[in-house]
Amino acid sequence: MHYFGFKKGELYCENIRVRDIAKKTGTPVYIYSKRTVIEHFQKIDAAFFEVDHLICYSLKANASMGIIKTLQQEGCGADIVSGGELYKALEAGIAPGKIVYAGVGKTKEEMAAALKNNIFMFNLESLPEAVRLNAVAGKLKKIAEVAIRVNPDVDADTHRYITTGKKENKFGVNISKAGEVFRTVAGLKNLKVSGIHTHIGSQITNIEPYVLTLKKIIALRQELLPAGINISRLNIGGGLGIIYKNETPATPAEFAKRVLPLLKPLGVKVILEPGRFIVGNAGILVSEVQYIKKGEVKNYIILDAGMNDLIRPSLYEAFHEIVAVKKTAGRFKADVVGPICESGDFFGKGRILPKVKEGDLIAVMSAGAYGFSMASNYNCRRKPAEVLVAGSKFKVVRRRESFEDLLKGEVYK
Ligand code: LLP
Repeated sequence: MHYFGFKKGELYCENIRVRDIAKKTGTPVYIYSKRTVIEHFQKIDAAFFEVDHLICYSLKANASMGIIKTLQQEGCGADIVSGGELYKALEAGIAPGKIVYAGVGKTKEEMAAALKNNIFMFNLESLPEAVRLNAVAGKLKKIAEVAIRVNPDVDADTHRYITTGKKENKFGVNISKAGEVFRTVAGLKNLKVSGIHTHIGSQITNIEPYVLTLKKIIALRQELLPAGINISRLNIGGGLGIIYKNETPATPAEFAKRVLPLLKPLGVKVILEPGRFIVGNAGILVSEVQYIKKGEVKNYIILDAGMNDLIRPSLYEAFHEIVAVKKTAGRFKADVVGPICESGDFFGKGRILPKVKEGDLIAVMSAGAYGFSMASNYNCRRKPAEVLVAGSKFKVVRRRESFEDLLKGEVYK
């Protein structure tokens, strides 16, 4: 579900013509629908209303302030993985008591910053990390509230680069060793172990891997009781998939229907960390056609956006729907590519598209998650502008980078 659609052959975001926005901002530009973001958050929130729960939006999906602030205003929390994400979450006004901190490589400085700001909890990924956090907390005379991330060895049935819950992945503590690790961590005097965390992967469309994971961690919770370890918080991660092409992902309501019967009897606080589900279909990347090139064996539509703006097709061979912003007559088959000097710089291959020409606008759909947040300055390209649409109004929430921005921080004179 999202608020992008065609009216009289023109692509709209909510009540504004995409073409009118691009005319003002130039291209490439990311355009987000505020209503889509909010409704996605509300869907998950509503699905879990029967239990005490906290939704921590995973900032890595899209850490633009316009998006974080929108969610903060809805009462949403944050899932962070770096000092930078902590900084942005706090700057956006997210309550520290709604921030959870994951990631395998937290530095001492990052731990200290999170402790000083009294975040809700740390999701620890290893024993050495627990030892380090214990030391940092001791120095600051703080008790750190922690969950330990358990790697359940469950196949999330998704792309190999974005599956995280298999025993060969670097994340969390293996389920077979988890009991031992929890007992050791419980003995560290500056830590309070109150949670189990799992996150098995991203773009998951099937509920069964979640159910299997949950059953495993509920059994672990039970196993910890005799040692006096009382787990009152279960963090079931993010990963809910969206529709890019013809996937049929479970809805939050269907997901909740399966997991709530397992969670309710426990009386625990449930934490969720959705990223893609909230913002994925809430954003598009709009770009202008520079050239139509007839190659030896193929046609190419060459855009002014490149893999530095949206790397998912290049990196994961991810599919994104590509549309002409204004419907045009005629059809042709082409690869949709960027201007970057790499053969991997493409948005789609062998697509049948309307007969667009130089100067026409193209939209790469479902680009709200892991789009701008993974953008780079490769080829000294300036990062694109970002626009947030609310009804019939829009706001540039990030201006396009300037050439001076490309020199920022460099010492050369
Ligand atoms: N929690 C943890 C601990 C995570 O590692 C992630 C994502 C999330 C939550 C949010 O997952 P989501 O709900 O967005 O699936 N760049 C890749 C996706 C990488 C996901 C990394 N972790 C892509 O473009 O598909």
